[in-house]
Amino acid sequence: MSEKIQFVERQQLKEKPDPKDLGFGEHFTDYMLSFQYDADKGWHDLKIVPYGSIEISPAAQALHYGQAVFEGLKAYKHDGEVDLFRPSQNFKRINNSLERLEMPKVDEELLLEGLKQLVDVERDWVPEGDGQSLYIRPFVFATEGVLGVRPAKSYQMLIILSPSGNYYGGESLTPTKIYVEDEYVRAVRGGVGFAKVAGNYAASLKSQTNAAEEGYDQVLWLDGVERKYIEEVGSMNIFFVENGKIVTPELNGSILPGITRKTVIELAQKLGYEVETRHVSIDELFEAYDKGELTEVFGTGTAAVISPVGKLKYEDREIVINNNETGEITQKLYDNYVGIQSGKLDDPEGWRVVVPRYE
Ligand code: COI
Repeated sequence: MSEKIQFVERQQLKEKPDPKDLGFGEHFTDYMLSFQYDADKGWHDLKIVPYGSIEISPAAQALHYGQAVFEGLKAYKHDGEVDLFRPSQNFKRINNSLERLEMPKVDEELLLEGLKQLVDVERDWVPEGDGQSLYIRPFVFATEGVLGVRPAKSYQMLIILSPSGNYYGGESLTPTKIYVEDEYVRAVRGGVGFAKVAGNYAASLKSQTNAAEEGYDQVLWLDGVERKYIEEVGSMNIFFVENGKIVTPELNGSILPGITRKTVIELAQKLGYEVETRHVSIDELFEAYDKGELTEVFGTGTAAVISPVGKLKYEDREIVINNNETGEITQKLYDNYVGIQSGKLDDPEGWRVVVPRYE
């Protein structure tokens, strides 16, 4: 058994929220994991501390120049045990994001161990209802208070935990309405689109507000150069079923390499579906729709899981996919993916990682 990390106990535990009323990312547990970096010491002082406000310099570089990255993963409870889903993938990806923003990389194994100890302490917070899980948010930000534009010399990493329900609210598999953005772009190759950096999400908000004003849940981004090829949705990667084949945009440097995307591709292939990762233009999509070949559209993401898309609006035209109902393939992928996550199905690939009981 690995060494126990330092644990700073809080005076009083919080009252837990009503499981019927969780929302997404609205409630936080009693503790968080904290890790510090200083140029002269490297990463140090890994500990579990009470969840609470932190003090930060008004000149902290994260606030001015956006050196901030994050991750999202989930823990599930079944048969009295708690599992993390493919957590090593998230720590690998956070290191890719850190490297892109010239921030210091973390020890992936040490952090996985720290996360397991944190989740062990918080196992009573893991909800068990349909579509519910403990959403885990690791993030790193520059804390050095200096206004010169250069990589900071000090950083903080925190992992906070939020018992959550469905990202889009309501029942799982409620079809979403997506607006295809043709004015603003999310990322270009050579930029930071492939990294999970805070600024990517800030840059998406204006379009999201515009889409929401027209009654759409999220924005579908086109490529930043030709504004022709499909990239991803605000908080999900996107998949299409065309002529029975599953098609998703290939990773090109500006698309986020989603862990759910990767898992769904692997799962679909195991279930015998043909999966194509390639350029998909918005025109191809609408032409396939007109020919009756576009039968399903769905998004994938840690928070969003697998979410059917019922409506897509591009320029002046809105198309309704599969009668605004969850398609057969989407449903099958969802059942298998959630079945493995929730422990109802076998896990031949070892994607579930059990959180040990440390005492
Ligand atoms: C996730 O799916 O975990 C995300 O990071 C998307 C979002 C909630 C920002």
